[in-house]
Amino acid sequence: MVSKKAYTAQASGIGRATALAYARYGALGLVVADVDEPGAQEAAKEAKQQATNPDFTVYALCVDVRDFQSVEKVFAFAVDKFKRVDYSVNSVGIAFAKAFIADNSLDLYDNTQNINTKGVLYHTKAAVEVMLKQDPVVIQGHDRVRTIGRGSIVNVCSDASIIATPSQVEYNASKFAALAITKTAANEYGASQIRINALCPGPIETPLLERYVAANPAIRDKLAVGTTLGRVGDVDEVADSILFLTSTAGSFVHGSTVVVDGGLANNVPGL
Ligand SMILES: NC(=O)c1ccc[n+]([C@@H]2O[C@H](COP(=O)([O-])OP(=O)(O)OC[C@H]3O[C@@H](n4cnc5c(N)ncnc54)[C@H](O)[C@@H]3O)[C@@H](O)[C@H]2O)c1
Repeated sequence: MVSKKAYTAQASGIGRATALAYARYGALGLVVADVDEPGAQEAAKEAKQQATNPDFTVYALCVDVRDFQSVEKVFAFAVDKFKRVDYSVNSVGIAFAKAFIADNSLDLYDNTQNINTKGVLYHTKAAVEVMLKQDPVVIQGHDRVRTIGRGSIVNVCSDASIIATPSQVEYNASKFAALAITKTAANEYGASQIRINALCPGPIETPLLERYVAANPAIRDKLAVGTTLGRVGDVDEVADSILFLTSTAGSFVHGSTVVVDGGLANNVPGL
């Protein structure tokens, strides 16, 4: 399904699962970048072990998405090694269940916007700058040719991009903004044949969720009950949706908010 050169994030959780899925589905090249460099190296090592393409190459880099130059360097590295970047996936994010607005920390608010919001803007900007310089790709499909464009970007947003759960104003604000950035970029660059979509997970079993529920483990059960499937999701269920969006199969999906949440955002509690 995937034979292209990808830049993908990150070392942990959804990003790590996505990197491994690219490797398993036959990607040719991958850059795993994270502020946690040893984690990126570990994910790259695992990707190499699981890769099905004999020519698969993977690199691990350190990036801090709060710094635009740091993000640009990763894309410049990928272009240097692979000559083009077909996919860009940003799944960086932080989240802490804290308090209602009156008791919430302003420092936490600022740091969350820097990582979750500016990070998405910087990542999208750096990816678009590279993709605009690439030729669009046209492939021969089963019956007819298919245009798959200059590249495909997926920003991992959240159910918190569309619903405002109490006690996490900083996270909700950052994720509504991340969705707005993604949709704006889709409107700006669709005509340039760059596909851009938002992937909004619900509760997914990752280190982030572990930290989120650490102070109050009962939240995990509440999250599971909030989905109509009655459970928390698995990282591979998100990774597979990301691969769909970036693959040929998703060639006409653009500007979409793809919700992968077991029905949580659609749920009507008490009915
Ligand atoms: N897990 C969930 O339940 C859930 C639900 C909805 C949305 N999301 C979103 O999915 C994305 C991935 O979350 P996850 O659960 O895999 O989290 P995770 O904590 O497992 O992974 C997040 C990664 O981001 C990296 N990171 C943090 N700050 C960084 C920075 N400044 N620069 C570069 N990398 C940085 C971390 O090192 C980590 O590898 C996030 O955007 C999160 O908000 C997760």
